[in-house]
Amino acid sequence: MLSQEENDLLCCTGPGTPMGNLFRRFWLPVALSRELPKPDCPPVRMRILSEDLIAFRNTNGKVGLLSRYCPHRGASLFFGRNEEGGLRCVYHGWKFDTTGVCIDMPNEPAECSFKHKIRQTAYPTREAGGVIWAYMGPQEIMPELPELEWTLVPQNHVYVHKRFQHCNYLQNVEGEVDSSHVSFLHREFRPEKFNAAIAGQVLLAQAKDTAPKFLVQETEYGLTIGARRNWDADQYYWRVTKFLMPSFTLIPSEAGSPINFTAAVPVDDKNMVGFTVTWLPDRPLADNDISTIESWTGAYAEVDPKTFEPIASRANDHLLDREKQRTENFTGMRGIREQDIAVQEDQFGGPVTDRTKEHLGTSDTGVITLRRRLLNSVRNFQQGQEPPEPRKATAYRVRPIADIAYRNLSLDEVLDSGDLDLARSEV
Ligand code: FES
Ligand SMILES: [Fe+2]
Repeated sequence: MLSQEENDLLCCTGPGTPMGNLFRRFWLPVALSRELPKPDCPPVRMRILSEDLIAFRNTNGKVGLLSRYCPHRGASLFFGRNEEGGLRCVYHGWKFDTTGVCIDMPNEPAECSFKHKIRQTAYPTREAGGVIWAYMGPQEIMPELPELEWTLVPQNHVYVHKRFQHCNYLQNVEGEVDSSHVSFLHREFRPEKFNAAIAGQVLLAQAKDTAPKFLVQETEYGLTIGARRNWDADQYYWRVTKFLMPSFTLIPSEAGSPINFTAAVPVDDKNMVGFTVTWLPDRPLADNDISTIESWTGAYAEVDPKTFEPIASRANDHLLDREKQRTENFTGMRGIREQDIAVQEDQFGGPVTDRTKEHLGTSDTGVITLRRRLLNSVRNFQQGQEPPEPRKATAYRVRPIADIAYRNLSLDEVLDSGDLDLARSEV
């Protein structure tokens, strides 16, 4: 349970809000590179942290991210002409480069110096892992991109996916660190189907213990969240999720299986864009890895390829099938992500859940620790302390773990057996 003040502090991310300013200290995934497939292609509208933006790829292939509305009289640059090194507003022809400089003002006399005074807000971008990243904070403290493994391996090892989700970002992140719900929300009554469909969750399907014990550690990048279930007389089944500031997670899967990353990026306070990434460190994804992903039974929701809106939505009750719920799985909904979206979009009836009404138990330890970490960060930030994580780019080179271990092993020993220690030269 949180107070209303704490809930607002965590959930509000628009310009000028404490959490919004904290988010703006981090590089954030904002779009897929393939949404801007070639130089001078059509621009893409987006809204991030309650700011209306337009992304375009210029003639040289560089991605610009500008405020969406033209500084002249506010026409949308979505209608703009993307040509010869800049985006030109269709209303009166003003043209901007990727840094926001006004490079042409054809409706003013040539000798007029007005254009040199005009600058559109522009945010730096990078491309890594098939994703366009943006940094929306102060230029003088712009950090390096976090060294997430999937941004460093060859692109054919990686599958990236984007979806919109109609709730506050925090509901999604809480779901990602809540290892307890997987025994229920994602329960499949036919284990053989579960195993085939969801790589890396074979052990989970066999785990009988539905009340994991949580052990959480603070780390340089965020949190290590260990959920330990009884396996047999000698062993535990561990699921170790990583939370990476400000809103990223690594979801446990077994060694050798594809690894999953998620990011929840606020569109505004009631909507988010979710990125899910699957990668293999050692080999390209094979056709059957991709067909498993595109069965939409796992961590990916099927989306409309143009709008990125999930096909299973609140409007159609997330395609809930009551017969399926009786006979096939716990929810009667198809996929893990689709199940997550259904519950996350409607907690206490709102896209921003009312955390003053909750009743948290011991199995909510991951969620509680996540909130504490974020609250500490944002309160320190309000006191003038910059978050340290953006300066720890290399600390983001970690993996999650799902494995069986003897009961005498501590969380540290389990981590030692599985943590990523990848030399820069190897990637
Ligand atoms: S509104 Fe864009 S050039 Fe006039
Ligand atoms: Fe889930």
